Amino acid sequence: MEKAYSKQPRILIADDLQKNIQVIGTILRKEGFQINVAVNGKQALDLAEKTIPDLILMDIMMPGGDGIETCRKLKEHRTLKKIPIIFISAKSEPKDILRGFEVGGSDYVLKPFNSNELLARVKNHLEVKFYREMLEKLSYERQELIHILCHDLSNPIVGIIGVLEILEEVESLDEARKYFTYLDKGAKNAYGIIELVRKLEKLDKKDFSLDLQLENLSKLIDESVGMIYLKAQKKSLEVKVNVSEDHEVLVEKTSFVNSVLMNILTNSVKFSNPGGSITISSQKVESQIFVSFKDEGIGMNEKMLESIFQIENLKSRKGTAAETGTGFGMPLIKKFMGKYGGSISIYSSDTDKNHGTEVVIGLKANKV
Ligand SMILES: Nc1ncnc2c1ncn2[C@@H]1O[C@H](COP(=O)(O)OP(=O)(O)OP(=O)(O)O)[C@@H](O)[C@H]1O
Ligand SMILES: [Mg+2]
Repeated sequence: MEKAYSKQPRILIADDLQKNIQVIGTILRKEGFQINVAVNGKQALDLAEKTIPDLILMDIMMPGGDGIETCRKLKEHRTLKKIPIIFISAKSEPKDILRGFEVGGSDYVLKPFNSNELLARVKNHLEVKFYREMLEKLSYERQELIHILCHDLSNPIVGIIGVLEILEEVESLDEARKYFTYLDKGAKNAYGIIELVRKLEKLDKKDFSLDLQLENLSKLIDESVGMIYLKAQKKSLEVKVNVSEDHEVLVEKTSFVNSVLMNILTNSVKFSNPGGSITISSQKVESQIFVSFKDEGIGMNEKMLESIFQIENLKSRKGTAAETGTGFGMPLIKKFMGKYGGSISIYSSDTDKNHGTEVVIGLKANKV
Protein backbone atom coordinates (compact mmCIF):
# COMPACT_ATOMS: atom_id res chain seq x y z
CA MET A 1 0.00 0.00 0.00
CA GLU A 2 1.21 3.51 -0.82
CA LYS A 3 2.26 5.59 2.18
CA ALA A 4 -0.08 8.42 3.19
CA TYR A 5 2.90 10.42 4.42
CA SER A 6 5.95 11.72 2.68
CA LYS A 7 7.76 13.35 5.62
CA GLN A 8 9.69 11.41 8.27
CA PRO A 9 7.21 10.81 11.08
CA ARG A 10 8.28 11.77 14.59
CA ILE A 11 7.74 9.24 17.36
CA LEU A 12 7.97 9.82 21.08
CA ILE A 13 9.04 6.84 23.17
CA ALA A 14 8.07 7.14 26.83
CA ASP A 15 9.72 4.39 28.86
CA ASP A 16 11.84 4.39 32.03
CA LEU A 17 13.95 1.39 31.01
CA GLN A 18 17.04 2.26 28.99
CA LYS A 19 17.11 -1.19 27.40
CA ASN A 20 13.58 -0.85 26.02
CA ILE A 21 14.32 2.60 24.67
CA GLN A 22 17.38 1.27 22.88
CA VAL A 23 15.60 -1.70 21.32
CA ILE A 24 12.56 0.27 20.17
CA GLY A 25 14.68 3.26 19.09
CA THR A 26 16.88 1.05 16.89
CA ILE A 27 13.89 -0.60 15.18
CA LEU A 28 12.22 2.74 14.46
CA ARG A 29 15.36 4.64 13.41
CA LYS A 30 16.10 1.94 10.85
CA GLU A 31 12.75 2.85 9.24
CA GLY A 32 13.77 6.50 9.03
CA PHE A 33 11.53 7.73 11.88
CA GLN A 34 12.64 10.67 14.04
CA ILE A 35 12.78 9.68 17.69
CA ASN A 36 12.40 11.56 20.97
CA VAL A 37 12.71 9.89 24.34
CA ALA A 38 11.04 10.58 27.70
CA VAL A 39 11.77 8.58 30.84
CA ASN A 40 8.65 9.50 32.82
CA GLY A 41 5.10 10.75 32.35
CA LYS A 42 5.86 14.40 33.08
CA GLN A 43 8.73 14.47 30.60
CA ALA A 44 6.50 12.78 28.02
CA LEU A 45 3.91 15.56 28.38
CA ASP A 46 6.55 18.31 28.11
CA LEU A 47 8.23 16.70 25.10
CA ALA A 48 4.90 16.05 23.36
CA GLU A 49 4.11 19.77 23.68
CA LYS A 50 7.53 20.77 22.36
CA THR A 51 7.97 18.29 19.53
CA ILE A 52 4.33 17.47 18.54
CA PRO A 53 5.02 13.82 17.67
CA ASP A 54 2.98 11.87 15.13
CA LEU A 55 2.69 8.89 17.47
CA ILE A 56 3.57 8.00 21.06
CA LEU A 57 4.78 4.64 22.33
CA MET A 58 3.96 4.70 26.02
CA ASP A 59 5.08 2.34 28.74
CA ILE A 60 2.28 1.76 31.25
CA MET A 61 4.48 1.59 34.35
CA MET A 62 6.70 4.66 34.73
CA PRO A 63 7.73 6.84 37.67
CA GLY A 64 6.36 10.42 37.79
CA GLY A 65 2.88 9.64 36.53
CA ASP A 66 2.15 6.31 34.92
CA GLY A 67 1.41 5.82 31.22
CA ILE A 68 -2.36 5.63 31.72
CA GLU A 69 -2.48 8.94 33.61
CA THR A 70 -0.17 10.59 31.05
CA CYS A 71 -2.38 9.34 28.22
CA ARG A 72 -5.47 10.73 29.97
CA LYS A 73 -3.79 14.15 30.26
CA LEU A 74 -2.72 14.11 26.62
CA LYS A 75 -6.25 13.29 25.53
CA GLU A 76 -7.52 16.37 27.40
CA HIS A 77 -5.10 18.62 25.54
CA ARG A 78 -6.62 20.79 22.78
CA THR A 79 -4.12 19.87 20.07
CA LEU A 80 -2.19 16.86 21.40
CA LYS A 81 -5.35 14.80 21.86
CA LYS A 82 -5.24 13.64 18.25
CA ILE A 83 -1.84 11.90 18.57
CA PRO A 84 -2.28 8.10 18.54
CA ILE A 85 -0.87 6.38 21.63
CA ILE A 86 0.27 2.76 21.64
CA PHE A 87 0.78 1.31 25.09
CA ILE A 88 3.72 -0.97 25.77
CA SER A 89 3.38 -3.13 28.79
CA ALA A 90 4.72 -6.26 30.38
CA LYS A 91 1.43 -6.61 32.13
CA SER A 92 -0.93 -8.87 30.36
CA GLU A 93 -3.84 -8.42 32.70
CA PRO A 94 -6.92 -7.55 30.64
CA LYS A 95 -7.72 -4.85 33.24
CA ASP A 96 -4.70 -2.71 32.23
CA ILE A 97 -5.34 -3.09 28.53
CA LEU A 98 -8.97 -2.08 29.00
CA ARG A 99 -7.95 0.97 31.07
CA GLY A 100 -5.55 1.95 28.29
CA PHE A 101 -8.37 1.92 25.73
CA GLU A 102 -10.73 3.71 28.12
CA VAL A 103 -8.38 6.70 28.47
CA GLY A 104 -8.04 7.00 24.68
CA GLY A 105 -5.13 4.67 23.78
CA SER A 106 -5.22 3.42 20.19
CA ASP A 107 -3.51 0.06 20.65
CA TYR A 108 -1.17 -1.95 22.84
CA VAL A 109 1.88 -4.18 22.47
CA LEU A 110 2.94 -6.66 25.12
CA LYS A 111 6.54 -7.04 26.28
CA PRO A 112 8.59 -8.88 25.22
CA PHE A 113 7.48 -7.75 21.78
CA ASN A 114 8.18 -8.97 18.31
CA SER A 115 9.85 -6.11 16.41
CA ASN A 116 7.99 -6.81 13.16
CA GLU A 117 4.68 -6.71 14.97
CA LEU A 118 5.58 -3.46 16.75
CA LEU A 119 6.61 -1.89 13.45
CA ALA A 120 3.46 -3.06 11.67
CA ARG A 121 1.27 -1.53 14.38
CA VAL A 122 3.21 1.75 14.37
CA LYS A 123 2.91 2.04 10.58
CA ASN A 124 -0.81 1.20 10.63
CA HIS A 125 -1.58 3.90 13.17
CA LEU A 126 0.53 6.45 11.33
CA GLU A 127 -1.36 5.68 8.10
CA VAL A 128 -4.69 6.14 9.87
CA LYS A 129 -3.51 9.40 11.43
CA PHE A 130 -2.25 10.89 8.19
CA TYR A 131 -5.34 9.83 6.21
CA ARG A 132 -7.54 11.35 8.92
CA GLU A 133 -5.58 14.61 8.73
CA MET A 134 -5.87 14.64 4.95
CA LEU A 135 -9.64 14.13 5.17
CA GLU A 136 -10.01 16.84 7.83
CA LYS A 137 -8.08 19.30 5.68
CA LEU A 138 -10.15 18.44 2.63
CA SER A 139 -13.38 18.74 4.57
CA TYR A 140 -12.31 22.11 5.98
CA GLU A 141 -11.40 23.42 2.53
CA ARG A 142 -14.79 22.29 1.21
CA GLN A 143 -16.58 24.01 4.09
CA GLU A 144 -14.64 27.20 3.38
CA LEU A 145 -15.75 27.18 -0.23
CA ILE A 146 -19.33 26.49 0.82
CA HIS A 147 -19.13 29.42 3.23
CA ILE A 148 -17.99 31.73 0.44
CA LEU A 149 -20.65 30.40 -1.93
CA CYS A 150 -23.54 30.52 0.55
CA HIS A 151 -22.68 33.30 3.00
CA ASP A 152 -20.62 35.71 0.91
CA LEU A 153 -22.41 35.18 -2.42
CA SER A 154 -25.78 35.86 -0.84
CA ASN A 155 -24.89 39.54 -0.17
CA PRO A 156 -24.66 40.76 -3.80
CA ILE A 157 -27.62 38.55 -4.77
CA VAL A 158 -29.79 39.96 -1.98
CA GLY A 159 -28.69 43.41 -3.22
CA ILE A 160 -29.79 42.56 -6.79
CA ILE A 161 -33.17 41.31 -5.53
CA GLY A 162 -33.61 44.56 -3.59
CA VAL A 163 -32.90 46.68 -6.68
CA LEU A 164 -35.27 44.55 -8.81
CA GLU A 165 -38.02 45.16 -6.27
CA ILE A 166 -37.46 48.92 -6.57
CA LEU A 167 -37.46 48.65 -10.39
CA GLU A 168 -40.93 47.13 -10.34
CA GLU A 169 -42.21 50.42 -8.95
CA VAL A 170 -40.42 52.90 -11.25
CA GLU A 171 -42.39 54.64 -13.92
CA SER A 172 -39.93 55.49 -16.67
CA LEU A 173 -36.88 54.00 -18.32
CA ASP A 174 -34.89 57.11 -17.41
CA GLU A 175 -35.65 56.58 -13.74
CA ALA A 176 -34.82 52.88 -14.05
CA ARG A 177 -31.44 53.63 -15.62
CA LYS A 178 -30.27 55.19 -12.35
CA TYR A 179 -30.42 51.74 -10.77
CA PHE A 180 -28.68 49.83 -13.54
CA THR A 181 -25.22 50.50 -12.12
CA TYR A 182 -26.24 48.79 -8.85
CA LEU A 183 -27.45 45.74 -10.80
CA ASP A 184 -24.26 45.74 -12.83
CA LYS A 185 -22.09 45.97 -9.69
CA GLY A 186 -24.07 43.28 -7.87
CA ALA A 187 -23.96 40.85 -10.80
CA LYS A 188 -20.23 41.42 -11.37
CA ASN A 189 -19.53 40.93 -7.68
CA ALA A 190 -21.51 37.68 -7.65
CA TYR A 191 -19.66 36.44 -10.73
CA GLY A 192 -16.35 37.51 -9.16
CA ILE A 193 -17.11 35.36 -6.12
CA ILE A 194 -17.77 32.31 -8.30
CA GLU A 195 -14.46 32.93 -10.09
CA LEU A 196 -12.74 33.31 -6.71
CA VAL A 197 -14.04 29.92 -5.58
CA ARG A 198 -12.63 28.38 -8.77
CA LYS A 199 -9.25 29.99 -8.02
CA LEU A 200 -9.34 28.92 -4.37
CA GLU A 201 -9.78 25.29 -5.33
CA LYS A 202 -6.45 25.58 -7.11
CA LEU A 203 -4.97 27.63 -4.26
CA ASP A 204 -5.64 24.80 -1.84
CA LYS A 205 -3.78 22.46 -4.15
CA LYS A 206 -0.84 24.87 -3.78
CA ASP A 207 -0.24 25.51 -7.47
CA PHE A 208 -1.82 28.93 -7.52
CA SER A 209 -1.47 32.24 -5.73
CA LEU A 210 -3.95 35.10 -5.45
CA ASP A 211 -3.37 38.02 -7.79
CA LEU A 212 -2.62 40.89 -5.38
CA GLN A 213 -3.10 44.48 -6.57
CA LEU A 214 -2.96 47.91 -4.95
CA GLU A 215 -6.57 49.02 -4.52
CA ASN A 216 -8.14 52.21 -3.22
CA LEU A 217 -9.29 51.36 0.32
CA SER A 218 -11.99 54.00 0.55
CA LYS A 219 -13.72 52.73 -2.63
CA LEU A 220 -13.74 49.13 -1.42
CA ILE A 221 -15.06 50.14 2.01
CA ASP A 222 -17.85 52.18 0.36
CA GLU A 223 -18.75 49.17 -1.78
CA SER A 224 -19.00 46.89 1.28
CA VAL A 225 -20.86 49.42 3.40
CA GLY A 226 -23.33 49.74 0.51
CA MET A 227 -23.98 46.00 0.70
CA ILE A 228 -24.73 45.97 4.45
CA TYR A 229 -26.64 49.24 4.34
CA LEU A 230 -30.12 47.69 4.40
CA LYS A 231 -29.22 45.27 7.21
CA ALA A 232 -27.79 48.15 9.26
CA GLN A 233 -30.84 50.28 8.59
CA LYS A 234 -33.14 47.53 9.86
CA LYS A 235 -31.37 47.75 13.23
CA SER A 236 -31.21 51.57 13.12
CA LEU A 237 -27.41 51.44 13.18
CA GLU A 238 -25.31 54.41 12.20
CA VAL A 239 -22.30 53.53 10.02
CA LYS A 240 -19.56 56.18 10.24
CA VAL A 241 -16.76 55.96 7.67
CA ASN A 242 -13.61 57.90 8.34
CA VAL A 243 -11.20 56.44 5.80
CA SER A 244 -8.62 58.48 3.90
CA GLU A 245 -9.31 58.63 0.16
CA ASP A 246 -5.57 58.33 -0.52
CA HIS A 247 -4.95 55.00 1.17
CA GLU A 248 -4.06 52.15 -1.15
CA VAL A 249 -3.85 48.57 0.07
CA LEU A 250 -2.39 45.37 -1.39
CA VAL A 251 -5.25 42.85 -1.69
CA GLU A 252 -7.12 40.55 -4.03
CA LYS A 253 -10.22 42.64 -4.55
CA THR A 254 -13.06 40.07 -4.71
CA SER A 255 -12.03 38.17 -1.60
CA PHE A 256 -11.23 41.40 0.27
CA VAL A 257 -14.61 43.01 -0.41
CA ASN A 258 -16.84 39.95 -0.22
CA SER A 259 -15.14 37.79 2.37
CA VAL A 260 -12.94 40.02 4.55
CA LEU A 261 -14.84 43.32 4.70
CA MET A 262 -18.30 41.76 4.44
CA ASN A 263 -17.65 39.18 7.18
CA ILE A 264 -16.30 41.83 9.56
CA LEU A 265 -19.18 44.21 8.80
CA THR A 266 -21.93 41.56 8.92
CA ASN A 267 -20.59 40.54 12.34
CA SER A 268 -20.67 44.16 13.54
CA VAL A 269 -24.28 44.46 12.36
CA LYS A 270 -25.27 41.01 13.62
CA PHE A 271 -23.94 41.58 17.16
CA SER A 272 -25.03 45.23 17.57
CA ASN A 273 -28.04 46.32 19.54
CA PRO A 274 -30.55 48.57 17.77
CA GLY A 275 -29.51 52.21 17.75
CA GLY A 276 -25.78 51.50 18.04
CA SER A 277 -23.03 52.67 15.73
CA ILE A 278 -20.24 51.15 13.65
CA THR A 279 -17.13 53.25 13.01
CA ILE A 280 -14.63 52.46 10.27
CA SER A 281 -11.34 54.35 10.20
CA SER A 282 -7.90 53.96 8.67
CA GLN A 283 -4.40 54.98 9.60
CA LYS A 284 -1.06 54.72 7.80
CA VAL A 285 1.92 53.58 9.87
CA GLU A 286 5.11 53.42 7.81
CA SER A 287 4.44 50.98 4.96
CA GLN A 288 1.22 49.58 6.44
CA ILE A 289 -2.38 50.68 6.50
CA PHE A 290 -4.41 49.73 9.57
CA VAL A 291 -8.19 49.65 9.22
CA SER A 292 -10.32 49.63 12.38
CA PHE A 293 -13.94 48.45 12.57
CA LYS A 294 -15.47 49.41 15.89
CA ASP A 295 -18.92 48.45 17.10
CA GLU A 296 -20.82 49.02 20.34
CA GLY A 297 -22.43 45.59 20.28
CA ILE A 298 -22.64 42.74 22.77
CA GLY A 299 -18.88 42.04 22.63
CA MET A 300 -17.00 38.85 23.48
CA ASN A 301 -15.35 37.44 26.57
CA GLU A 302 -11.71 36.28 26.72
CA LYS A 303 -12.57 32.65 26.12
CA MET A 304 -14.44 33.42 22.90
CA LEU A 305 -11.58 35.60 21.70
CA GLU A 306 -9.05 32.84 22.36
CA SER A 307 -10.75 30.39 20.03
CA ILE A 308 -12.19 32.73 17.42
CA PHE A 309 -9.77 31.64 14.65
CA GLN A 310 -9.59 27.95 15.56
CA ILE A 311 -11.13 25.84 12.83
CA GLU A 312 -11.12 22.74 15.02
CA ASN A 313 -13.22 24.56 17.58
CA LEU A 314 -15.81 26.53 15.61
CA LYS A 315 -18.33 28.41 17.72
CA SER A 316 -21.22 30.51 16.53
CA ARG A 317 -23.70 32.63 18.50
CA LYS A 318 -27.01 33.95 17.36
CA GLY A 319 -27.06 37.68 16.58
CA THR A 320 -29.15 40.26 18.45
CA ALA A 321 -31.99 39.64 15.96
CA ALA A 322 -31.50 35.85 16.19
CA GLU A 323 -29.39 35.74 12.98
CA THR A 324 -27.68 32.37 12.58
CA GLY A 325 -24.17 31.54 11.32
CA THR A 326 -21.53 28.86 10.97
CA GLY A 327 -18.48 30.27 12.79
CA PHE A 328 -16.48 30.07 9.57
CA GLY A 329 -16.30 33.81 8.91
CA MET A 330 -13.35 34.64 11.17
CA PRO A 331 -11.05 31.74 10.17
CA LEU A 332 -11.75 32.62 6.54
CA ILE A 333 -10.83 36.28 7.12
CA LYS A 334 -7.58 35.18 8.78
CA LYS A 335 -6.75 32.90 5.88
CA PHE A 336 -7.20 35.71 3.34
CA MET A 337 -5.27 38.19 5.50
CA GLY A 338 -2.40 35.68 5.47
CA LYS A 339 -2.58 35.46 1.67
CA TYR A 340 -2.25 39.27 1.43
CA GLY A 341 0.70 39.30 3.85
CA GLY A 342 -1.47 41.19 6.35
CA SER A 343 -2.60 40.81 9.95
CA ILE A 344 -5.77 40.82 12.06
CA SER A 345 -6.29 41.65 15.77
CA ILE A 346 -9.50 41.72 17.77
CA TYR A 347 -10.21 43.64 20.97
CA SER A 348 -13.49 43.11 22.74
CA SER A 349 -15.30 43.58 26.01
CA ASP A 350 -18.68 42.24 27.11
CA THR A 351 -19.32 43.85 30.50
CA ASP A 352 -22.55 45.75 31.20
CA LYS A 353 -20.71 49.08 31.42
CA ASN A 354 -18.32 48.55 28.55
CA HIS A 355 -19.27 46.37 25.62
CA GLY A 356 -18.22 46.35 22.02
CA THR A 357 -15.67 44.97 19.60
CA GLU A 358 -12.85 46.41 17.54
CA VAL A 359 -11.38 44.45 14.65
CA VAL A 360 -8.13 45.88 13.27
CA ILE A 361 -6.66 44.63 10.01
CA GLY A 362 -3.17 45.56 8.84
CA LEU A 363 -2.43 45.63 5.09
CA LYS A 364 0.63 46.39 2.99
CA ALA A 365 0.53 49.86 1.47
CA ASN A 366 2.84 48.98 -1.41
CA LYS A 367 3.74 46.06 -3.60
CA VAL A 368 7.07 45.09 -2.05
N1 LIG B 1 -18.33 42.12 16.21
C1 LIG B 1 -18.61 41.10 17.00
N2 LIG B 1 -19.24 41.30 18.19
C2 LIG B 1 -19.53 40.27 19.04
N3 LIG B 1 -19.22 38.98 18.79
C3 LIG B 1 -18.59 38.71 17.62
C4 LIG B 1 -18.25 39.74 16.68
N4 LIG B 1 -17.61 39.16 15.64
C5 LIG B 1 -17.57 37.83 15.91
N5 LIG B 1 -18.15 37.56 17.10
C6 LIG B 1 -18.26 36.23 17.77
O1 LIG B 1 -17.42 35.32 17.11
C7 LIG B 1 -18.17 34.22 16.59
C8 LIG B 1 -17.55 33.74 15.32
O2 LIG B 1 -17.66 34.73 14.30
P1 LIG B 1 -17.68 34.26 12.78
O3 LIG B 1 -17.85 35.44 11.90
O4 LIG B 1 -16.49 33.40 12.56
O5 LIG B 1 -18.95 33.30 12.70
P2 LIG B 1 -20.49 33.66 12.73
O6 LIG B 1 -20.70 35.12 12.47
O7 LIG B 1 -21.08 33.08 13.95
O8 LIG B 1 -21.02 32.82 11.48
P3 LIG B 1 -20.95 33.24 9.95
O9 LIG B 1 -19.77 34.15 9.78
O10 LIG B 1 -20.82 31.96 9.23
O11 LIG B 1 -22.24 33.92 9.68
C9 LIG B 1 -19.60 34.77 16.46
O12 LIG B 1 -20.57 33.75 16.48
C10 LIG B 1 -19.68 35.67 17.68
O13 LIG B 1 -19.95 34.92 18.83
MG1 LIG C 1 -19.62 36.07 10.82
